[in-house]
Amino acid sequence: MKQQLEQIRLQAIAALQEADTPALLEDLRVKFLGKKGELTAVLKLMGKLSPEERPVMGQIANAVRAEIEENLEARKRAVNAAVLEAKLQAESLDVTIPGTSVAMGKEHPMNQVLQEIKDLFVSLGYQIIDGPEIELAEYNFTRLNTEEGHPARDRSDTFYFNDDDSLLLRTQTSPMQIRAMENAKPPICILAPGRVYRKDEADATHSPMFHQIEGLVIDEHITMGNLKSALITLMKSLYGEDAEMRFRPHHFPFTEPSCEMDMQCHKCHGTGEVDGQVCSTCHGEGWIELLGAGMVHPKVLEGCGIDPEKYSGFAFGMGLERMAMGRRKINDLRLIFDNDVRFLNQF
Ligand code: DAH
Repeated sequence: MKQQLEQIRLQAIAALQEADTPALLEDLRVKFLGKKGELTAVLKLMGKLSPEERPVMGQIANAVRAEIEENLEARKRAVNAAVLEAKLQAESLDVTIPGTSVAMGKEHPMNQVLQEIKDLFVSLGYQIIDGPEIELAEYNFTRLNTEEGHPARDRSDTFYFNDDDSLLLRTQTSPMQIRAMENAKPPICILAPGRVYRKDEADATHSPMFHQIEGLVIDEHITMGNLKSALITLMKSLYGEDAEMRFRPHHFPFTEPSCEMDMQCHKCHGTGEVDGQVCSTCHGEGWIELLGAGMVHPKVLEGCGIDPEKYSGFAFGMGLERMAMGRRKINDLRLIFDNDVRFLNQF
């Protein structure tokens, strides 16, 4: 029996030394130390020994068990450490390898200019408001003193939704004047930027969808002088103190008197020519039309329940793309809508 125990001891220690995975070690534990294991099998034979031999064999058996257990534990620690080390090696990260860079987007130049314009008008006390792009003809035309049959209502210019021409894509931000006057009593001082739509072919200065910014100020004693002052302040803040601009008389149904404001062409500097050719940005005019403006027509005020004897007001509507072209020296409107990153990254 003593020999048997010695054999188990030697076998177990040798097998443990070979085992290199936690699963193999567990198999060996079961094989040698388990309830149906080899050591247990030998111990079962103890009953057959003489009373003198029994304690001696018992001691040897316990020592063998303890030695196998110790070996098993030591081997488990070594194997676990090796497994961990292999895992760390396999999953290691080289933090010095350069990462994959994500291309950064940029604010569109038109939004940059819009923000500059909004900031200026907010600093002058204007409130920024927003309104629908799908608009009633009543707001887009009728209440802006543009009666049925007026050429501006022509089907060839306007995207209508229905046969009776009562619903449309707004052709201008001016209906926001009516909405502002409906929603508040004077004093009113608002700025309403947004998209507008017209059946225009796209070229260097036209697009079927573009942006306008409407302004409206209504109070007692408002004059054309206040209008000019607001617009000159805008031009100087965007284009610098020596910005060149001009006001021309014009006609709009919803203002009286009305005017248009132009800025000097940024490409030909007012000469109308570039390298002996007609300037393609202003078509030889030397000026670029930026906005329409005027004193709000008494009929429009009355239609919104505002007494034209007591109150007066001015309004203006400018093309945002045109403003951005001048501010950022862009020569073709289509570049603004193309969204080519090579173009956008310049700003
Ligand atoms: N809505 C006009 C247009 O699109 C521009 C305009 C003219 C706006 C005069 C105004 C204004 O507020 O007073 O051509």
